[in-house]
Amino acid sequence: MSSSLTDLNLQAHQFLGERYTVFLEQLTMLDEPAARDAFAELRGSLERHRLFEDQRVLPCLQAGQDITAEELARVTGDHQVIGDTLELLENLVEAIFCSAQPRRELVANLSRLGRLQGILEHHTERETRFVYPVLDQMPDRELINLLAEGLLDTSH
Ligand SMILES: [Fe+2]
Ligand SMILES: [Fe+2]
Repeated sequence: MSSSLTDLNLQAHQFLGERYTVFLEQLTMLDEPAARDAFAELRGSLERHRLFEDQRVLPCLQAGQDITAEELARVTGDHQVIGDTLELLENLVEAIFCSAQPRRELVANLSRLGRLQGILEHHTERETRFVYPVLDQMPDRELINLLAEGLLDTSH
């Protein structure tokens, strides 16, 4: 496996950002079936990536040694916020398409609809600084390769 985990995670986040953009494109065109499909794809990919990190990646880090306990708590906290924000987006999609004035409902919620972008940017920076470079330095190549395969799996 030639790419570092740091790069593979960045690629996965880029892919997630792309899915988010497609969702917003379809939603702002008020194309209900396309927006719902795009949201399902975004949610599926984001949940898969987040769960993989919670279950397989983060447990490889020793708090207080590889990463500070505070920073680890921030990374897991981000994952919680991302889950909550997906929930919020799902409710907004419902509210927009159930409204008698969908465009007005969309405009009223523009900042909430865009919220995930800033959250993902901060989260990407955190993982790129405090999580993956530490793992890339670990001597257990077998573990690194397993994590790399898992990350690649979340990039689709
Ligand atoms: Fe990640
Ligand atoms: Fe993450």
